[in-house]
Amino acid sequence: MARILTGIQSSGRPHLGNILGAIKPAIELSKNPQNESFFFIADLHSLTTLKNGEERGEYVRAIAATWLAFGFDYQKNVFWRQSRVQEHTELAWYLNCFTPFPMLANATSFKDKSEKLADVNAGLFTYPVLQAADILLYNANIIPVGKDQKQHLEMSKDIANRFNILAGEEILVLPEPQIDERIMTIPGLDGQKMSKSYHNYIDIFLPENELKKITKKILSDSKQLEEPKDPDNDITFQLYSLVASETDVETMRQNYLNGGYGYGHAKQALFECFLEVFAEPRRIFNYYMENTEELEGILDAGEAKAREIAQDTIGKVRKVLGFSS
Ligand code: ADP
Ligand code: TRP
Repeated sequence: MARILTGIQSSGRPHLGNILGAIKPAIELSKNPQNESFFFIADLHSLTTLKNGEERGEYVRAIAATWLAFGFDYQKNVFWRQSRVQEHTELAWYLNCFTPFPMLANATSFKDKSEKLADVNAGLFTYPVLQAADILLYNANIIPVGKDQKQHLEMSKDIANRFNILAGEEILVLPEPQIDERIMTIPGLDGQKMSKSYHNYIDIFLPENELKKITKKILSDSKQLEEPKDPDNDITFQLYSLVASETDVETMRQNYLNGGYGYGHAKQALFECFLEVFAEPRRIFNYYMENTEELEGILDAGEAKAREIAQDTIGKVRKVLGFSS
């Protein structure tokens, strides 16, 4: 039995890139009866960049509703918000004291963020330690993440190892990242990686008219309707290939190559495909966003399950460190 664990920061509403690149593949893994999955909302991590509490609450609900919309089985697995299990912050403090300063100073994601952001706070700096605590609290074995998280996972292992050496036994389980190289980087409206930081993302849960508007904004070249077009170098076609059926993709490819088919037609087809393919997730998402008490109830129940395991680990850690009575 493998324990899978992953978290998504509540720093925005989930977009098509998060869904196809992280949420759906993690849900697929969780369907294996051999696996037990721990998926949480990293709302403490989001505080490093987002200070507004109302917005955070909204994003936490949107992320939770997205996991549910794509069929995450919260009853079989564990599903909670990080901030509600205080052992995350407690363990993070202990682990801070096992983390060499240069290890954090050399983290590429910290370097990137500190160049881009105006607010370079200490939370951004110790971000990987809180992430290590998230993982190590639950004895997780496999951590599905994007390529950008590889270094953070190496740090988690390194920190756990330092603690275990002091303890003289393997109190903290060493996690392994699972980075699926086959998962492509989903392009955004402008062809760069779809990301909330680039404001080029598609929110598939938008109301129909807004989703249509955003789909029309996908960048295309200036070829005229009658001209043949290159499907492999077009963002609309790339996105369509990620969501439509094989036969529909083939039909669109032929339309591009033949000419007489404009980018406007392709965008309309993509929009209609979003509505069709995501009809059920859109319905479930809207249901939970309107029934927030039910959604919070699901997270509360998950929190209780998470806390039980977290308390067990923290008890062992306190004992090693001489903090237990
Ligand atoms: P963003 O870049 O919008 O801030 P995050 O960094 O919060 O997204 O990513 C959350 C998860 O979604 C990560 O596991 C990340 O690898 C995945 N993800 C984000 N954008 C994409 C994308 N364009 N293509 C594939 N996966 C993505
Ligand atoms: N840092 C991760 C990201 O930005 C989110 C995260 C926080 C996470 N804690 C985690 C991922 C623990 C995996 C395991 O995508």
